[in-house]
Amino acid sequence: MSEEIFSKVHGVLAEINAAAPSNESELEQFRIKYLGSKNTLKPLFGEIRNIAPERKGEYGQLVNSLKQAAEAKFNVLKSTLSNKADAQESEGLDLTAPGLSRRLGARHPISATQDKIISIFGRMGFAVAEDREIEDDWHNFTAMNTPEDHPARDMQDTFYLRDYPKRLLRTHTSSVQSRTMKANKPPIRIIAPGRVYRNETISARAHCQFHQVEGLYIDKKVSFADMKQTLLFFAKEMYGPDSKIRLRPSYFPFTEPSAEMDVSCFICDAKGCSVCKYTGWVEILGCGMVDPEVLKNCDIDPESYTGFAFGMGIERQAMMRYKINDIRLLFENDVRFLKQFQSVH
Ligand code: PHE
Repeated sequence: MSEEIFSKVHGVLAEINAAAPSNESELEQFRIKYLGSKNTLKPLFGEIRNIAPERKGEYGQLVNSLKQAAEAKFNVLKSTLSNKADAQESEGLDLTAPGLSRRLGARHPISATQDKIISIFGRMGFAVAEDREIEDDWHNFTAMNTPEDHPARDMQDTFYLRDYPKRLLRTHTSSVQSRTMKANKPPIRIIAPGRVYRNETISARAHCQFHQVEGLYIDKKVSFADMKQTLLFFAKEMYGPDSKIRLRPSYFPFTEPSAEMDVSCFICDAKGCSVCKYTGWVEILGCGMVDPEVLKNCDIDPESYTGFAFGMGIERQAMMRYKINDIRLLFENDVRFLKQFQSVH
């Protein structure tokens, strides 16, 4: 009797070892048969009653080994089958194919140039001030000592809104000077970047919209020498430590005295090239001591305070830095142009 049962168990063991489910459903049948709640091994455990007492231990071990064998087989088959599924999924996958590169965005040359200017003045303690592009006549012109018959007010230069002559598109960032002085008491030390508009014929060199950065410093005893030193530091930071500056007398209604500042040409090291028109100098900005009339207009006492101001265009500086020969490229947003600035920071 015992022998028969023993050989039956051995037979089942061989069956388990030989089983080779080749897909998920065959594996599931295997699991139900040997490991499920009504598995075929259970009756064999019951047979222990019929085993001679001296062989009960041996039988117990043998039947237990059936369960272990079924579990081990199940685990091995399960992982083999899921690997196989993965392999099927990735069939046709070429691991040596070059990856898909993600294109980085590019900084616009205007933003890059503007941010560099802001950061240089930021290190000298100038805070960024921003204000509206739709301005009123007073802040753009009157407060800035620009009399009513001044040619800059001419409708040919200025874009007015329908309520002419009340509102206009600011023609310079100097409007932020009057806004800031009206709203704050000195000391004032600001840098004001922004877009400005002039009714100009659009060409390779001129546009009806462009960007400026304005600077204003007002405190007790601010001198022309302070301005020169501030602008020299800016030129060296912006265009290289060997840069020189040159101030030429000029005229602006809101500064007295006024000057235009040139920087030694950083393209040719002042040796002479087409950018500096073989003069060795390039014009960068307008500047001067804030006219006492402007201070008065903005409720600042010119007896106690003095200040300097400057304003520079960004487009021309960006065009020189990146060797761009047509200002219109800066406003067309053509990706073929813009993506060339991916490494610009
Ligand atoms: N606002 C002047 C311009 O647009 C530049 C400037 C600003 C000059 C401040 C002097 C002082 O040309």
